[in-house]
Amino acid sequence: MYRTKTCGELRLNDAGSKVTLAGWVQRARKMGGMTFVDVRDRYGITQVVFNNETDAALCEAANHLGREYVIQISGTVAERSNKNPNIPTGEIEIIAETLNVLNASEVPPFTIEDDTDGGDDLRMKFRYLDLRRNSVRKNLELRHKMTMEVRRYLDSKGFLEIETPMLVGSTPEGARDFVVPSRMNPGQFYALPQSPQTLKQLLMVSGMDRYFQIVKCFRDEDLRADRQPEFTQIDCEMSFVEQDDIINLFEGMAKHLFKELRGVELTEPFIRMPWADAMKYYGSDKPDLRFGMEFVELMDIMKGHGFGVFDNAAYIGGICAPGAATYTRKQLDQLTEYVKRPQIGAKGMVYARVEADGNVKSSVDKFYSQEVLQQMKQAFNANPGDLILILSGDDVMKTRKQLCELRLEMGRQLGLRDKNKFACLWVVDFPMFEWSEEEQRLMAMHHPFTHPKEEDIPLLDTNPEAVRADAYDMVVNGVEVGGGSIRIHDSALQAKMFEILGFTPERAQEQFGFLMNAFKFGAPPHGGLAYGLDRWVSLFAGLDSIRDCIAFPKNNSGRDVMLEAPAPLDDKQLDELALKIDLSEK
Ligand code: AMO
Repeated sequence: MYRTKTCGELRLNDAGSKVTLAGWVQRARKMGGMTFVDVRDRYGITQVVFNNETDAALCEAANHLGREYVIQISGTVAERSNKNPNIPTGEIEIIAETLNVLNASEVPPFTIEDDTDGGDDLRMKFRYLDLRRNSVRKNLELRHKMTMEVRRYLDSKGFLEIETPMLVGSTPEGARDFVVPSRMNPGQFYALPQSPQTLKQLLMVSGMDRYFQIVKCFRDEDLRADRQPEFTQIDCEMSFVEQDDIINLFEGMAKHLFKELRGVELTEPFIRMPWADAMKYYGSDKPDLRFGMEFVELMDIMKGHGFGVFDNAAYIGGICAPGAATYTRKQLDQLTEYVKRPQIGAKGMVYARVEADGNVKSSVDKFYSQEVLQQMKQAFNANPGDLILILSGDDVMKTRKQLCELRLEMGRQLGLRDKNKFACLWVVDFPMFEWSEEEQRLMAMHHPFTHPKEEDIPLLDTNPEAVRADAYDMVVNGVEVGGGSIRIHDSALQAKMFEILGFTPERAQEQFGFLMNAFKFGAPPHGGLAYGLDRWVSLFAGLDSIRDCIAFPKNNSGRDVMLEAPAPLDDKQLDELALKIDLSEK
């Protein structure tokens, strides 16, 4: 037997028992005639003591152990004189009787402890060592528990877990595809699925009724902290349901996860906020509701007083930061610089402090009388000590997005974005379409299979941009953790949708004929949703990036620095695939 116990399980009441442990040397230190070795495995760390006086040869062997050696030790559990309250095994140690080096290790490139000296790139290159660290490993454990709970919940609700193929056809809508050349079909390519969307709809046509899959999805898009090129969805679809049925079932699942994995009981129904309100009051379709500071529009109050910037603006709006009137000039200048950064793009920022006597002192006092400033104060319901921050611009949506960034930054600075507090909501009634400047056409905001709201269907012909969809996102703490919709199940309506999206009937048939044809054979009304597993785990683990809950993630350039992928193919492979590489334009 390699071990009788793990390195995380011995306690004081085991004192006196003989045990064998196996694990990695976290550190070894010599103190006088004793050598102390911390042995680590997945379950914890146990201190092992080698005594020079009782067994000099054994102690000498222990003195030669290096970091990350794999060892097996046997000995007797004893109460420690110098207890360590920070670890569960801190009350005991093992008095070693045998030591067996199972494998040596080179000096690791960074220290494998909670606080490591390894930078990001180094840790990613040696990810298998990084994963030995408690802080990273526990994220994978949480991920495992979450998938177990998801399966338990969905199984209890009658869902079937069904796999769909990874080699599928490329679809033009949505993000860019990752493509895979086919040797047996030269010049032709598969695509890796961006999601199993159409396949799960076909499963509904098959009568599967309730489907789910914990599934890898692939999207060739620019990366951010909450985006990886390959990520995992908890993908679900149901037949004979309306929006409320789906929302209720998956809200139930979210509450189940909160309870089982975070010990948080959410008893109230989640808020359902129309998309238009989310944009108006938070400038975002994923508002962080852990704090208030809703936008107040000031066009009526602030226009027409001779301040050119506001007089010419299409939108003037602000937020009121409670208790922030103490912000110094320097802090306000830094905030102005923050919103002027190219990523945000505001032209400037106006501020106003509500003073102790209720008077308002603003950066644009010369244009506004105290009376107007008081009206503004009232619009915000501001109190003495509050700070009002205002942005304006000639594009309503753009300015709202800038104000959203300012609100989030103020929330951060005022400590209102506590990772242990959770604010969940559904954003509903998304617009069906959005205008794409790049493509110069309407694009589906969710995807082209989304059902328009019944009452908005007549607008498809007259004013498609006003059509709202039966689409919904779940948002937690400003993160979109899931999204879905009721689908079109009528082939004529689906064909019309493709027409509005600029597809010729031939192209629609070529790309999506399989789906539209299937709809001719008795497609049931259906709808569904997909949760982002990586985002849920990061949220529960309080991570800044979803990378930290993925065993082998890609870096910000989409590279796996450990596997050194992507990489060129050799000529033989290229020949077999009938591919020629031309980098002259790149
Ligand atoms: P959507 O594109 O909204 O919907 O994706 C569903 C959820 O997947 C997560 N997600 C991501 N997570 C990490 N990295 C990414 N690059 C990434 N992209 C998306 C998000 C998101 O809410 N087929 C539809 C779902 C449906 O309609 O049923 C779909 O894929 O948490």
